[in-house]
Amino acid sequence: MEWRNKHIYLCGFMGSGKTTIGRLLADRLKRPFTDTDEQIEKISGQSIPAIFEQYGEPEFRRIEKALVRRIAADNIPSVIALGGGSLMDEESLSVVRATGLLVFLDCSMDRIIERVNPSSRPLFKTERLTDLLNQRLPGYRQASWILDTSHISPEQTTEKLMVWLHEVKSTIEKSL
Ligand code: S3P
Repeated sequence: MEWRNKHIYLCGFMGSGKTTIGRLLADRLKRPFTDTDEQIEKISGQSIPAIFEQYGEPEFRRIEKALVRRIAADNIPSVIALGGGSLMDEESLSVVRATGLLVFLDCSMDRIIERVNPSSRPLFKTERLTDLLNQRLPGYRQASWILDTSHISPEQTTEKLMVWLHEVKSTIEKSL
């Protein structure tokens, strides 16, 4: 796949660094950056916890799915940070894989717990995190590249992504 005309999607669990790294990567590539959670908050005028609280998770997922489709259809190649649960939806996973390169930012549970502010993530309080992560891993592992962010800085992760993107043609050809 020629990635230069495609989106670059970052997936992974809450706290894996998708937003911070996505911004840095977009800067380096001189591309627009979109964070699906930020977009949902902007469109709805409400915070993610407020949406969960008032309308429930199914409504949040409906908005998230529609947004992923809309972003995927945009023909300006962007860097996109996906919400941690978005790829549980099979159609979203297919759309993402068809329209870009998917990178999984992996992270240890210890680091996730250190990094995440539970008040901003409704599921952080209510779900058993390891179970939740295990449910998500099959989707995350559909990525073309998996990068462990547990012990490296966002800048180092971004640098690794840049190096990988320069090599990506041969990497992807090998994985086909
Ligand atoms: C969620 C992750 C959050 C946000 C929402 C649900 C999840 O995004 O979409 O709180 O289901 O894992 P981040 O992965 O950006 O934290």
